[in-house]
Amino acid sequence: MIMTIRSLEQMITEDLEEVLIPEEKLKIRVKELACDISRDYEGKDLLLVAVLKGALVFLADLARDLTIPADIDFIVVTSYASTRSTGEVRLAQDLTVSIKGRDILLVEDVVDNGLTIQFLTKTLLLREPASLRICALLDKPEGRSIDVRPDYCGFVIPNKFVVGYGLDYNQEYRNLPFIGVLSKHVIHNKDMQ
Ligand code: IMP
Ligand code: MG
Repeated sequence: MIMTIRSLEQMITEDLEEVLIPEEKLKIRVKELACDISRDYEGKDLLLVAVLKGALVFLADLARDLTIPADIDFIVVTSYASTRSTGEVRLAQDLTVSIKGRDILLVEDVVDNGLTIQFLTKTLLLREPASLRICALLDKPEGRSIDVRPDYCGFVIPNKFVVGYGLDYNQEYRNLPFIGVLSKHVIHNKDMQ
């Protein structure tokens, strides 16, 4: 089988419908979120828990915009196959530290149907943190099947499949510096394979 490696420019022009959130807008909004979080967690024992892999880029920017000390840890969950949630969320890799008595801020890339956040909230609350809140870069409320709402939210977006700034489609597009809408033909073609 011959593999053709495309350039990033090709992927952007061939696979994306539009740029939904440009780099500059992301920067400004992430700074605003960091400002709110720094104010709310002043004097607290803040631990940022990023949900991998999607929240990696968001976490890196958010953490550097905070003006208060914060620890960082990671958790890995799986639920998605291509663009569809399997409806079953699994813990693929746990935290490396105890969260008992600590102030936890879960950092997520996007809240869609809400299953991931529900699963993580239930799992982490059993460990008795002092507090647990959710910070999501994106919120797709139209996709919701469970009543959950992030405490901090970067952008409310329409129910479209988006990639870039950490978000992927079949592990691709994560390193785009902006958020783009994936074209339907890409989703269709790959899901047919
Ligand atoms: P939920 O359980 O449906 O709320 O799913 C949240 C997770 O689904 C996110 O952490 C993403 O990994 C994935 N996801 C949902 N919507 C998108 C999207 O538009 N692009 C990429 N990943 C998405
Ligand atoms: Mg994710």
